[in-house]
Parts: sequence; C-alpha cells; structure tokens
Amino acid sequence: MCSIIGYLGDGSAAPILVKGLKRMEYRGYDSVGVATISGNHITLRKGVGKVAEVNNAIKLDMLLGSVGIGHTRWATHGGVTETNAHPHPSSSGEVAIVHNGIIDNFEELKKELQQKGYVFKSETDSEVIANLLQHNFDQTKDVKKSMIQTVSSLKGNYAFVAVFEDGTLTAARFHEPLIIGVGKNGYFISSDVLGFIEHTDEVIYPDNREFIIINLNGIQFFDFDGNPVQHQITKVSKELADVYKGDYAHFTLKEISEQPDTILKAGESTRMELDLTTEFVKHAKNLYLTGSGTSYNAALVAKHIFSKYAKIKIESIISSEVAHSPNNFDQQSILIALSQSGESADVLEAVKIAQKEGAKIISIVNIMTSSLVQSSSISIGLNCGPEIGVAATKSFTAQLSILYKIADKLCGGCIGLDLDKVSTCVTKILSDQTKVQDIARNLKTISDIYVLGRGIHYAIASEASLKLKELTYIHAEGLPGGELKHGPLALMDSNVFVIIINPNDSTYVDTLASAHQIKARGAKIIGISDKPNEVYDYWIEIPEINEALFPLIEIIPIQLLAYYAALEKDTDPDYPRNLAKSVTVK
Ligand code: G6P
Repeated sequence: MCSIIGYLGDGSAAPILVKGLKRMEYRGYDSVGVATISGNHITLRKGVGKVAEVNNAIKLDMLLGSVGIGHTRWATHGGVTETNAHPHPSSSGEVAIVHNGIIDNFEELKKELQQKGYVFKSETDSEVIANLLQHNFDQTKDVKKSMIQTVSSLKGNYAFVAVFEDGTLTAARFHEPLIIGVGKNGYFISSDVLGFIEHTDEVIYPDNREFIIINLNGIQFFDFDGNPVQHQITKVSKELADVYKGDYAHFTLKEISEQPDTILKAGESTRMELDLTTEFVKHAKNLYLTGSGTSYNAALVAKHIFSKYAKIKIESIISSEVAHSPNNFDQQSILIALSQSGESADVLEAVKIAQKEGAKIISIVNIMTSSLVQSSSISIGLNCGPEIGVAATKSFTAQLSILYKIADKLCGGCIGLDLDKVSTCVTKILSDQTKVQDIARNLKTISDIYVLGRGIHYAIASEASLKLKELTYIHAEGLPGGELKHGPLALMDSNVFVIIINPNDSTYVDTLASAHQIKARGAKIIGISDKPNEVYDYWIEIPEINEALFPLIEIIPIQLLAYYAALEKDTDPDYPRNLAKSVTVK
C-alpha cells in the first residue's frame, strides 16, 4: 500500500531514494517524503502529491547525506496531509521512521507514550513506531535492544525502516514485504526490488519476524528475540528493471500494448509447475479459485471454462469473502490463488485459512519473489514483466492464458487453445485505435455505463466495468444479459451508455435481444462483436476466433476505451485516485 525505502552507502542517499520511490509509486502515491542524516542530524522533507510533483516543489533529492529513508503513502489512518506523510520523526527528532502496514494497537501505545511525555503530531498509526523506538532507545541506549523491545510491543502487520541520528539504519518485517539489496557501494532496504534494481541485483529476503541493523560495520539480521540469523544472497532478474514507459504516454497504454507478447509468454517460465498443477487439479476433491479485483474476475472466467470444457467443478470466492463464506477446505482440497502482486493481504489471508485446514495452495502470480509464492506448494508465473499501471491489464490476460492452458490440458485439448491466433487477434485490435478514441470522446460527460454479457462474457463484463471505474471514475456496472428485465432496465435512458459484449457464439441471439430492449429506452449502445448489427450506435469490431477464446480478446477494446476515456476526463490512467496497485492491508 505504501512503499518504504532505506539506503546506507557511499553515494548520496536522497537522489537514490527519490528514484527508487518513483519506481515503487504503484504501491501508493498520495504523498511522499525523505529523511537523511547530515552532520549527525535528521533532516526531513515531505509533501502531498506524486513523487515528481513534490520533488519539483521541495527538492527532496537535494537533501544531503549518505544515509536515508523514504516513503510513498496510500492513506489508511489519517487524511492526505503533509503532517500525515512519512517519514515521521520521534518527538525529539533523534529517530525517524517510514512504515508500511497497520499498527493495530497504536492508540493504546500512543496513550502510554503521551503519558511519558512523547509528543505526537500526526493522525497516523505509524508515528507511534518513531516514539516507541525513541523511548526504547532512551531507556537502553542500544539500537538492538530498542528494536527487540519495539517489535515485541507492536501488534498488526508492518514493515518499517528507521534511521538514527548516528547514521544507523534499522528495519523490521512482520507480514509485510521487505527486501534487502546488497550493492557494491551500499545497502538498500525496500518494499520491492524495483526500489533498487538499477543499483544491484543481489538481494536478501528477510523472513517474517526479523529485524535488520545496518551501519558502517555492515549488516546484521536478527529474529524478534534478538538471535542472529544468517541469510544467503540471491540474484534477481535484471529484467525487473524494465519499468520505463519508452515511447508510450502512460504505463497503462504500454502494458495494454504488450499483450500480444505477454499472452504468448504466460506461464512459459514455469512449464513444469503448469503440468504438475494439471495433475493435482485432476485428482482434487474440492477445488477453489480465489483473488481480488481483476484477479477475481479471472477466477470467474476460469470457473466457466473449467466446468464447460473440462467438466470440472471449481468454486470462485472473492478473497476477502473467504473468511465469511462456508467452504469445505480439507486435505484433499486445492485453492488456486490468483494475484498479480502476490502481496494482496486479502489473498494471503484466504490462503492462510485454506492452509490451516490442510488444503494445498497453488498460486498463479506475477511477482515470483512475493509472499504468496512463499506460501504456495506450486507457483505458476504470469511472466508478463512488471505491471506498473494500477489498473491490471496484461496480468489479466496472462492469468487467463494460463487458466485456459490448464483447462485445455485437462480435457485433452478440447478447447483448441491457439494462443498464437489469440495473439494475432489482439495485435489486430491494437493496430487501429481511432474508433475507440472517437467513442471515448462521447463518454466524457456520461455518469453511468453498463456492460452487458451473457455466460462467460458476464465475467468479462465485470472486468470491463472494473477497468472503467478505475480509470475514468464513471459509475460502471457489469450486467448478466438476462437480468436486464429484472431491474436494471429501469435505469436505461438517453443519458446512459451500454457496452454489449456480443461475439457471434451461443449467447449472440439472446444478447442481441437485450440490446434491442435497451435501445428502445433511448440508451446508446456500443457493440463489441465480430458481427455488425444496426442496433449498435457504435460497433467495435473484434476478429473472429474459436468461440471458446473470445474472452481473451474481447477485453482488449474495453481496456483501450477505459484508457482513452480517462484521457478525455483528464484523470491519470496510471495512478487512479484513492487506489493502489498492491493492497497489503485488509
Ligand atoms: C488492487 C488493484 C487492482 C487489483 C487488485 C488485486 O485493488 O488496484 O487493480 O486487481 O488489487 O491485486 P493482485 O495483485 O492481488 O492481483
């Protein structure tokens, strides 16, 4: 949700931190701040807005010193204000911290510290870490002891980095990501490898319940009881550094445009795991799919193809609902967890619940170093490269490609999966975007869009409406075609646009009938189909393909439409307001 970063080395810390924060902005971007040590003092700058804006205004990267910490925020406790932005100094200013996660017992700790004379300025839960650490340091005058005491008092999920006036850097990890980069000339601590990948590809993954101390003598790892821990350095793929927009105006457009390639590459780096998954799925008693947001919509598509083609019953549960829904997780169950980031707290929680009952966890995930991979027996990699745009695009079609592969294997090729053909169709859709751009102009002043589809296309309608909401802030809703007459028809009038997902398959005739009912009420219709029809006010043509594969291509024009409508509305497609790409809080 937030990104945290720390650096200690020979270089100038502030520009390194600011660059790292820019790369991790997908994790949260409502405010930003940096603190460095110079002349045995902590100096700190922070402000509301994106990294580049704040940096232009207050020159975060001009802070002096070779040790520092930084943060981008996605507000949970306390509004989006400069005071609530991190880093938070302790009341004496001798320690400053950046935090990702939520401290559940912050009110209780804050009261205790206030009684002891520590002053709080922000409304955040995070500030309590700064004063708690300061208090423990005041008592012990020992960094290690003060870290042990601090982590033993904190409840909740957190990763934090702290800097002490003498230039010592510390960090702790409890159910939130934290990665150490070991460079030739310095150490990095970060929520994501992207924070430092251009400096080093040598990393250490601290385990949960560990803290780290870095100073000029080197780096030390400890468990929460203070026992030393040894770690191996591993190398990560330098490809992760490929997070530049190139010639594209936005990451979102770049990522939409990469799909002809990413659809082909999906799962290719983990073929053995894919085959193994097929075997496990074949023999499982109870099968479940889970995910949040777009990943859940991929689960909805999968439910359909597994039952229609492979004749396998699989239940899809929204991750945040797993704790509240009846299920039969047991030792013969498999939970397939879908997640781009592998860090969504709701997904990790769902996994924990299923695991407790003995279920096997198989994940389909993009970030192979994520917490989800660590909790899974088998992980299949989306292999689609970093996805920076908050609204998931290429990761969705990569998830679908993998799920189609599994279903196709399960039924001995009955789907006739031809990803080369899919890729060619996607290229064709992307080759001329003028029509979609024209239609997007009409959405500028619209307040409601409905997306209608039947059968498997309803799952795509749900994903389409999510893209429209995220990117354009227009109220958008997916509708199962047949339900129109049971309520939503009352909403249709000339102010409404309805996108009809209507490829020429077994749903075609019924969906066309719904289109006529809508048209009769004056709403404007955008038809997405391989076949034109006069009922459509606007027709977006998609190529013909094997009927089972339409979902993989029909989402593409809607991703483009949402992107261009966002440009019309002057919203930032890469960083929609109030959202974050990786939601690591419940
Ligand atoms: C957030 C993002 C969505 C994403 C969802 C699940 O809500 O804004 O775009 O679909 O998380 O993310 P995951 O990384 O688990 O797929």
